Amino acid sequence: MRHIYIVGIGTGNPEHLTVQAINALNKVDVIFIPSKGAAKAELADVRKDICQRYVKSKAVRFIDYAVPARETADRSYVQSVDDWHAQITAIYERLFQDHMTEDGSAAFLVWGDPSLYDSTIRIIERVRALGRLAFDCSVIPGITSVQALTASHRIPLNLVGKPVQITTGRRLAESFPGMVETAVVMLDGELAFSKIDDPDAYIYWGAYLGTKDEITIAGRLADVSDRIVATRAEARAKHGWIMDIYLLRKGSDFDDQA
Ligand SMILES: C[S@@+](CC[C@H](N)C(=O)[O-])C[C@H]1O[C@@H](n2cnc3c(N)ncnc32)[C@H](O)[C@@H]1O
Repeated sequence: MRHIYIVGIGTGNPEHLTVQAINALNKVDVIFIPSKGAAKAELADVRKDICQRYVKSKAVRFIDYAVPARETADRSYVQSVDDWHAQITAIYERLFQDHMTEDGSAAFLVWGDPSLYDSTIRIIERVRALGRLAFDCSVIPGITSVQALTASHRIPLNLVGKPVQITTGRRLAESFPGMVETAVVMLDGELAFSKIDDPDAYIYWGAYLGTKDEITIAGRLADVSDRIVATRAEARAKHGWIMDIYLLRKGSDFDDQA
């Protein structure tokens, strides 16, 4: 039976790769590499660098495939994502048919960890649900951008014994600062932190974490918010794209314990 490996590769530093990931990449027949357009060529370069450094087996073939852009016109967000996943499902099924033998193996290199704000697992299950191809699947964990952020700032993710919420810019206002003391925000194109007015909030922000272009800023939100907005705009203009993440915090360890 075909076997698909969904391999987490970390968030930009090739040294994030685990030994388990390296071993998987050396035992597959094919590695599928997404091409995302020139603006994100640097991300494609990270994947190429990882393959050059770690894939020593000469038997491995590399197959590029184009990722379609998500259409947003005349549909809801959910419909837009669902349509996009359907398109990618068809592409994956074709890749499996055209480039794998019936007992062959292949890997997808997934940014960060495959479980966190990534749909590769979901889409591969959609291929299975079409019922035309049989395959097994393994997921190999990777370093997430959440871990890259807390490591770069040298902070624990949670306050002692307290929960953490991971959310998006679009939904941040639903929970922070009212409901949770620690929120990690990903996929924020709308600078949601800059709309929070709370004198006790702290922010730990990072962009291009793990790469040579990494930038970090931390401090009381009211003091550093404008600097993050300006730094982000400048970096985005320079690179043509940005990936950033931040942790917002209120309170401190033990502050609700006698
Ligand atoms: C589609 S999600 C993928 C997350 C990924 N699976 C992970 O484990 O981190 C993309 C978001 O992850 C965050 N992200 C990923 N890599 C990053 C990096 N190197 N630096 C800062 N943020 C990053 C950003 O919030 C970005 O908008």
